[in-house]
Amino acid sequence: MEFVGFTLRNNLFVAPMAGVTDRPFRQLCKKMGAGLAVSEMVTSNSLLYGSAKTQRRANHDGEVAPISVQIAGADPRMMADAARHNVERGAQIIDINMGCPAKKICNVMAGSALLRDEVLVGRILAAVVAAVPETPVTLKIRTGWDKGSRNALRILGIAEQSGIRALAVHGRTRACGYTGHAEYETIAAVKAAARIPIIANGDITSPEKARHVLDVTGADAVMIGRAAQGRPWLFREIEHYLRTGTRLPPPRVEEIHAVLLAHLEDLYAFYGVDTGVRVARKHISWYTRGLVGSAVFRHRMNQLPDIAQQRNAVNDFFYRLAEHDERLSYQESSGENDNEADNEPGGLAA
Ligand SMILES: Cc1cc2nc3c(=O)[nH]c(=O)nc-3n(C[C@H](O)[C@H](O)[C@H](O)COP(=O)(O)O)c2cc1C
Repeated sequence: MEFVGFTLRNNLFVAPMAGVTDRPFRQLCKKMGAGLAVSEMVTSNSLLYGSAKTQRRANHDGEVAPISVQIAGADPRMMADAARHNVERGAQIIDINMGCPAKKICNVMAGSALLRDEVLVGRILAAVVAAVPETPVTLKIRTGWDKGSRNALRILGIAEQSGIRALAVHGRTRACGYTGHAEYETIAAVKAAARIPIIANGDITSPEKARHVLDVTGADAVMIGRAAQGRPWLFREIEHYLRTGTRLPPPRVEEIHAVLLAHLEDLYAFYGVDTGVRVARKHISWYTRGLVGSAVFRHRMNQLPDIAQQRNAVNDFFYRLAEHDERLSYQESSGENDNEADNEPGGLAA
């Protein structure tokens, strides 16, 4: 796919997820079939540029191009500075977050709160585009603030006038949080009116759903968030299905065991031992949820304090699983699949 001046492998994007789409996860998703992976958001508050967290978020060493970095904030000048700062550190696409309903972000009138102030939206977009004239700037929004004020179409107009090169739309209003179903009609209406590429986002969990969303919205690409947690191979499954109309068989247990071990090594190297073990717990839980014996395993694994024990526990779990099945097989109702806390680390419901 041609996208804002880059040739991508396909039109399947990893959604930005704070606390999830760090460099190891983005790299892994790209390796397993994603065409683009947007970084977790980076603050536009320059006072935090030196913090370990912000520096880690701006680390793109070895990442497959193009590198898309999301910035969040509500002050046009600070957002412009943040865009410049990140381009100097390797960002090839700047993505602006106006889709995040997290309280932490909305209380400072950033993220999806901005959708209520269209004049400010215009000022932020224009300032960022002017600050990095050589770099494409994209925007991510929800369909509006609440059901009474869906203004995605007006935001599209403002975005196009400001020189935004592509728009991702999560098919929910801010007030909807994560409730109900993503409404794809608004995304279809935005696409019908758009001159820039539109990326459809929300509740895409399978190859069939990706096909459906592309069909009903006419969108140029789809963006997938939660369903890719612990399942980065979803992108190759969707890619295959879109190309052939048939499903790949579930991956072999042996393969996913190796994928997870390599992911863990990346996390330990990226975060260091202590944080690495903590971040890894979250991913191990996602990889294993719904698999035979995972509830007991996850409970035990969450107590293990160091790398060696964590790695051993993962090995034991997957060796046992391989005795049971050659390929991954999820239990229909394990009752452990949809732990919200797993999905929204740090209470950040974006
Ligand atoms: C843990 C988590 C963190 C998120 N962080 C961000 C973020 O930093 N920026 C953003 O624009 N959206 C963020 N989102 C929203 C996702 O990008 C996406 O719009 C949303 O999850 C809907 O897509 P899905 O149904 O495929 O998950 C986050 C979502 C989750 C679950």
